[in-house]
Amino acid sequence: MKIYSAIQPTGSIHLGNYAGAIMNWVKLQEEGRCIYCIANYHSLTANREPQHLPQRVFEAALDLLACGIDPEKSELYVQSHIPEVTELTWILSCCAPMGELNRMTQFKEKSQRLEVVNAGLFTYPILMASDILLFKAEVVPVGEDQLQHLEVTRVFARRFNALFGETFPEPKPSVTKATRVMALNDPTRKMSKSVEGSAIMLSDPPEVILRHVKRAVTDAGPSADPQQMSPGIANMFTLLETFSTPETVGYFREAYAGGNLRYKELKDALGRDLVAALEPIRLRRQELAAHPERVEEILHASAHRLRQVAKATLAEVREKVGLGVTPEA
Ligand code: TYM
Repeated sequence: MKIYSAIQPTGSIHLGNYAGAIMNWVKLQEEGRCIYCIANYHSLTANREPQHLPQRVFEAALDLLACGIDPEKSELYVQSHIPEVTELTWILSCCAPMGELNRMTQFKEKSQRLEVVNAGLFTYPILMASDILLFKAEVVPVGEDQLQHLEVTRVFARRFNALFGETFPEPKPSVTKATRVMALNDPTRKMSKSVEGSAIMLSDPPEVILRHVKRAVTDAGPSADPQQMSPGIANMFTLLETFSTPETVGYFREAYAGGNLRYKELKDALGRDLVAALEPIRLRRQELAAHPERVEEILHASAHRLRQVAKATLAEVREKVGLGVTPEA
């Protein structure tokens, strides 16, 4: 099984990324050949700070390695180290139906907030599809917000195969229970780096994590349906199911069903278990940060190996669409 996924380098990874995707990336290393990517081409759709981008890529690599991405088992590379992906993006964009791209909810949401919408933001799903298809991946572990992009990747693969002959497998998603982690301070919104104060970062020390959990919004307000679990409590249960023991989850589920759930007790348990899960990652991250050259080495070795795979796929694609072979420079 060929497994592929990527993350944008926006600084330190947050709890939503970790519980929704990265934990699954780590687990899947036991089930197949994994390729993981730090998507810095994608981040150009929003990043206007070239001076910070290399550091953000490095931070993402640190986080992923600290989370347990094992360079002995998996490839970890930087997207722009394999520029072949941009050529595949162009070729795929020439058979990607505009109608499909127009449906993308993430584009609609993001573009609403911008004064000037760049074309890269619109064609972003084609670059993402190219990442996946360049390596002929079969399984893609992602959070819920990326499922629509994956669906459209399957459409592009199917369309390319129909036009030019069987080339790409149609990749399937792999999701966790925590496929959509909400902001603790506003559980109606997704936990995200771009929403101020909404994210717990993997680099946060215990006191910061505990403060976030302590301040978590619990009740949805007086108009909420009393029969239904409030979004804040539901989100805390999602996290509890990911980071606590089944006994702890069972204890609080029972308390909830019996109408005697004590928020403080729930928050204390969740805070304790989150710190226990994240503290080893933070400490490993610090150790790795002391050896930047080792991190660079890992990224370069993967890029070197993967470039051969990318070139082979591209040669096949060029041939199929009639572009043929590039003369040697
Ligand atoms: P990105 O960088 O926004 O997020 C990385 C991964 O984290 C998941 N995620 C979440 N999961 C649960 N709850 C949340 N609050 C939450 N926030 C983020 C995302 O679903 C994702 O799996 N376009 C992609 C990067 C990408 C990619 C790819 C992914 C580029 N090429 C090829 C898969 C395959 C993105 O921006 O993810």
